[in-house]
Amino acid sequence: MAHYQRLGDVPPKRHTQFRNERGSLLYEELMGEEGFSSDASLLYHRGVPSAIVDSQVWELPDLMTHPNHPLKPRHLKLHDLTTGQDWKSRDAVNDRRLVMGNGDVRISYVAAGEVSPYYRNAIGDECVFVESGSATVETVFGQLKAKPGDYVVIPRASTHRWIPHTDAGQPVRLYAIEANSHISPPKRYLSRFGQFLEHAPYCERDLHPPHEPLVQTGDDVEVLVKHRGSGPGAQAGIVGTRMTYSTHPFDVVGWDGCLYPYTFNVSDFEPITGRIHQPPPVHQVFEAANFVVCNFCPRKVDYHPLAVPVPYYHSNVDSDEVMFYVAGDYESRKGSGIGIGSISLHPGGYAHGPQPSAIEASLGKEYFDELAVMVDTFRPLELGEAGTASEDEAYAWSWATRP
Ligand SMILES: [Fe+2]
Repeated sequence: MAHYQRLGDVPPKRHTQFRNERGSLLYEELMGEEGFSSDASLLYHRGVPSAIVDSQVWELPDLMTHPNHPLKPRHLKLHDLTTGQDWKSRDAVNDRRLVMGNGDVRISYVAAGEVSPYYRNAIGDECVFVESGSATVETVFGQLKAKPGDYVVIPRASTHRWIPHTDAGQPVRLYAIEANSHISPPKRYLSRFGQFLEHAPYCERDLHPPHEPLVQTGDDVEVLVKHRGSGPGAQAGIVGTRMTYSTHPFDVVGWDGCLYPYTFNVSDFEPITGRIHQPPPVHQVFEAANFVVCNFCPRKVDYHPLAVPVPYYHSNVDSDEVMFYVAGDYESRKGSGIGIGSISLHPGGYAHGPQPSAIEASLGKEYFDELAVMVDTFRPLELGEAGTASEDEAYAWSWATRP
């Protein structure tokens, strides 16, 4: 991704001697993508970044999936996954539950109140959407503040942890989109050198990386690593390892480069509208290998005098479409049982569109007060254990007019 950033202390010339105030050498780490051939950053550690003293198996949560077969649209009620105060003992890493997934992406959900372990995902980038609540995300690059509506984008293998803010007696609700690849702004939004173009619905000023380095001390610090693997205990080619580091991994006095975590708030997405219905690509926010992320924000809607503001029925024949309903009142799903915290899955091989009563009800509307995050995948999605546990079985039949 992204434009060059520089935080803290870095030497004037890369790959040269760099010492702290006591004259000790700092340890330079290049963190880069695509085999030294894409975006990278150089980090300057106080301790040796590879110094581990132990490595054990980390038993991952249930990542098994089963196919959407017999094929049907699905409605999942993610808020049903939390009862009472059980969020208080849950953290954003060990307790995220798999809702659906395929070989390119996994979507998980957690309402968390507990500080997570130190963690890094070596499978791919994570894009964690904050449905509600807030948190501090400590990373090896520095600290991020996560608030409602933020996408927290964390590059592959970035060590971090989630610290929920629970002062208001509420959890932080996180919708975690884990890629097996990199997640970035769509290429068509960018110039050939990577600058956001004028037609893009957001730009560099809307992306918020850490402001300053985060330097901590400590010995024997445990980091959970999710990584590729096979054999006993592997789930869909994914395994976990619990590594213990000799010194604290958050010991970076400075870094620079184009690879780093950042937040982007959905309220900074400027909707693109038209006289007649605009297709989902105008709502796109990110892309990754074999899936895209779009958001449907509060916006003025179609202003042709005969416009039908809700979507036409569509067979998007190459995609499975997952909508996560975050806020407002989603116009095209009126009468379906869908509400805040719901997910709809509309699979390839099946035409979908508004509930019939929603079409007439939308005519003449000038504004939709709705917020939803959509993931469109190019390979079929399967249901995880949390998907099965939260399903509303009546949804598939909600278009038919039978009682
Ligand atoms: Fe759709």
